[in-house]
Amino acid sequence: MTEAEAQHDGTGRVELSFTVRDRERATHRQVRVPPGVTVFDSASWNGIAIDSTCGGHGTCHKCRVRIDERCPTTPHDLKTFSREQLDAGWRLACLVNATRDLEVEIPPLTTRPKAATVGVGRQVILRPAIQKRYVELAEPTLADQRTDLARFLDAIDDLEPAPDLAVLRRLPPVLREADFKATAVVVGETLIDVEPGDTTREQYAIAFDLGTTTVVATLLDVTTGTPVAVASALNRQQPYGGDVITRISATMLDPQALDRLRAAACETLAALAGEVCGEGGVDPARVYEVAVAGNATMTALVLGIDPEPLGVAPFVMSAAQPPDVLASEVGLALHPRARATFFPALGAYVGGDVVAGMLASGMDRDKRTRLFIDVGTNCEIVVSDGDRILATAAPAGPAFEGGVIRCGMRAADGAIEVVRLGDDVELGVIGDVEPRGLCGSGLVDAAAELVRTGLLDRSGRFVSDDVAKEVAPSLADRLRMLEQQRVFVLHRPTPDAEPEDCVVLTQRDVRELQFAKAAISTGWTLLLEELGLHQDDVQQVLLAGSFGSYLSAAAAVRIGLVPALPLLRIVAAGNVAGEGAKMALLSVRERAGAQALLGEVTYVELSDRPDFNDRFVDQLAF
Ligand code: FES
Repeated sequence: MTEAEAQHDGTGRVELSFTVRDRERATHRQVRVPPGVTVFDSASWNGIAIDSTCGGHGTCHKCRVRIDERCPTTPHDLKTFSREQLDAGWRLACLVNATRDLEVEIPPLTTRPKAATVGVGRQVILRPAIQKRYVELAEPTLADQRTDLARFLDAIDDLEPAPDLAVLRRLPPVLREADFKATAVVVGETLIDVEPGDTTREQYAIAFDLGTTTVVATLLDVTTGTPVAVASALNRQQPYGGDVITRISATMLDPQALDRLRAAACETLAALAGEVCGEGGVDPARVYEVAVAGNATMTALVLGIDPEPLGVAPFVMSAAQPPDVLASEVGLALHPRARATFFPALGAYVGGDVVAGMLASGMDRDKRTRLFIDVGTNCEIVVSDGDRILATAAPAGPAFEGGVIRCGMRAADGAIEVVRLGDDVELGVIGDVEPRGLCGSGLVDAAAELVRTGLLDRSGRFVSDDVAKEVAPSLADRLRMLEQQRVFVLHRPTPDAEPEDCVVLTQRDVRELQFAKAAISTGWTLLLEELGLHQDDVQQVLLAGSFGSYLSAAAAVRIGLVPALPLLRIVAAGNVAGEGAKMALLSVRERAGAQALLGEVTYVELSDRPDFNDRFVDQLAF
């Protein structure tokens, strides 16, 4: 397919067929990428290794592949290959742009690249932005009066970084005190430091999942891709409200609130950075980069950008991709010139956390029809059919996080997370303590079990006492009245406790759950329709986020939160935002992949669809 054809057929992608040879055999892989991506990047993004020491910069001349003789040659190809080799189609992979379908043969590797498994089973070839090079230099003489910088950079043959002013200040004393044996610290294209002696073993970065409720930090050794320490904490912005809307409102009501919210987010990141460095026994000055995956509001707040336009129609962001900043700008006391990079956002309610999640789950690289759901107050939904990717946001409300539910609570000690109804009620409680309330997964489980036993009808109404005695005699006495509504008693602290002292599920709670699940199922139903698909066509459902990890797939299917599919097709994907942040730190190729998603994903606004309300009402039933 030519580039024009690729765009014409609506997929915007070209197909590369790789034949990967090792000493014994050949394996075949087909990948699809946006036109214009280099062959080297196309392979790298898909976990296929090609020899390289420069990481795709066109300087090492190692990324030799055989394509076909019609591929244009570059001056580097002419220097690298003989006439016969060029005629046979040999080219440097990092200098060939894939603008049409190509067949690519990769010869056996001369070195085995380091790779790490990150995200949802993604194999990532390590190519971090952080690079160190140790050099031993000849001292200057009257016959060799090269500048310190030229001497230093000449010794680094595969990188061409530009120095920070601070490095120029440090370079002369460091080189002389260290007998001209020193380590270059490069982040991206910038030489950020020169360290005395050989410090190449110490190369660290921190991945942050900056959630509205919880913030997670992972300290990574980027030389191996290994997590060294992980820590999480509540976002210190909590006193300003539990969700993004209340925090945006806070900045609209109080001119000081933006500074305070920014400070609170920065303090959260700083405390976690201190914790993971302490736990990992790593000097914070050896952390050279951080990546932050957060929703659009969290990203705006930590950067001190007024979030008000995100909270009012037409919901506009200040920028899809915030610029990289010094990590000290977001309150982090790491290496003084460490960088902070932020994930780009698709829209005010499909933020950098979702882009990171899509990257971690390979939504853009899998041919299967997949549905990605990040369940939360604002629920993000992404559908890919292997060619097109659609995304939307559905306002599910706070039901899943315990808000508006009479006995709702966060997933903390004492929260009921599993409910089984048999002859009696069996509960799974976080921390194995006396139940205090119901978290999101317990709420879904409770409703699903009540529907299964017939105590809740499909319209979401508790059945009459007579029907209850018929369908579930041993549980019927748990249906009680409390403040003029029917409730189901899940836990009694004492056998004769009154309903107000018990953990109960009320009729109103069930209605709240129905609204939340209808918002989500309307979202994915409409996205599937846009792609001309039916729910049976979905080959995998990824439930993202901490809530998704605890949710029972069977219960989610039973209440219609996810399509009615075999349970094996429904996968808890875990903290994919944090995984995406790790990938961005381990591979600049993956980081570029996150950027590319901005051009590949179509955002679908649901709220202005004329049929939205009717569809929503259709989805209310269990
Ligand atoms: Fe080094 Fe292509 S990867 S020249």
